[in-house]
Amino acid sequence: MYAAPPIPPDIVALSDYEAAARQRMDDKAWAYFAGGSADESTLRANQAAFGDLLLQTRVLAEMQGAETRLTLFGQPMDYPILLAPVAFHRLVHPDGELAAAFGAAAMGATMVVSSQASTTLEAIAASTAAPLWFQLYIQHDRSFTEALLRRAEAAGYRAIVVTVDAPAATRNREQRAGFALPPGIEAANLRGLPPTPPSRAGLAESDVFRGLLDAAPSWKDIAWLRSLTRLPLLLKGIMSPADAQRAVAEGMDGIIVSNHGGRSLDTLPASITALPRIADAVGGRLPLLLDGGIRRGTDVLKALALGAHAVLLGRPQIHGLAVGGPVGVAHVLKILRTELEIAMALTGCTRLDRIDRGVLWDAPPQ
Ligand code: FNR
Ligand code: LAC
Repeated sequence: MYAAPPIPPDIVALSDYEAAARQRMDDKAWAYFAGGSADESTLRANQAAFGDLLLQTRVLAEMQGAETRLTLFGQPMDYPILLAPVAFHRLVHPDGELAAAFGAAAMGATMVVSSQASTTLEAIAASTAAPLWFQLYIQHDRSFTEALLRRAEAAGYRAIVVTVDAPAATRNREQRAGFALPPGIEAANLRGLPPTPPSRAGLAESDVFRGLLDAAPSWKDIAWLRSLTRLPLLLKGIMSPADAQRAVAEGMDGIIVSNHGGRSLDTLPASITALPRIADAVGGRLPLLLDGGIRRGTDVLKALALGAHAVLLGRPQIHGLAVGGPVGVAHVLKILRTELEIAMALTGCTRLDRIDRGVLWDAPPQ
């Protein structure tokens, strides 16, 4: 299906993919994918906070039989790295999500397909052997939302990820670049969605409270979704211990600790900074996943040390796709998996459940 891609031999790390992708993407698409919200403090913090966490090495450990397997919601995985939901893959590759899924399948990774994918969820499922989860945005039209959920169930998606952190955002980088979807690229899953009712706000009234948020989801909608499906249900975008406890109480199966890659509320802490408090609040009652700023195997190790069971990659999948199509996506996953194994070897961890705060030089302040 795909010709061998020309991946330059000097691309050996996720940062190399980012630099190469910048050369291949136009300025507007770059602003959309790379940008965060407002002053992008949280965007920068996500990566910086990993750099600030120091590791403690352990030498001469017996590493025979070491492995990275885990089981999440009954689903076996070879290693704890998934593709995060990212919208509009066709902005960087003509086959878009189909190419990303091809790369995920090659590496046995689970792909979380966005509600705002530029290919339909059915076409992706029909094209790939990769395990798929579906990311659901609760739409202003609740019957359309239910229909989306049913379509994902019918197409064999194995879990539903409800993203709850993005009812509104200040995307200044996109605005300055004048980003708009080019003709031919659309949110394919949302075809037929009745248009958002026009804002009722007059000029002197609030566009946010009288317009945008009128139909924004609340915990009532989460209880409603819970009543609709038996698939594992995760909330994505939890950054507060209190909300994490509420998610447990609402019968969620998992939580994704995430600040939407710094694209939602600016000046939130890095997701890795929020993780320990959320892990303490949840107390092992459900699995935690984390995304935001994961670029190295040591980042994965640190996330697992602080309580995550697995991590997701957002922008790096786009960089892989832009540079090398499906092979680029597979290579991004391969690089990160290999780096995780090296980090485990150098910290003396033979299995994921042996990775704990002991791999860190300092326990983070609570
Ligand atoms: C996203 N993210 C996202 N999340 C989601 O639930 N649904 C979506 O459609 C999108 N779309 C999207 C587009 C773009 C361009 C980006 C960069 C991100 C957020 C994504 O799932 C994830 O939380 C972050 O990307 C993780 O941070 P990193 O890995 O990009 O640093
Ligand atoms: C974004 C939306 C699609 O982050 O989640 O651009």
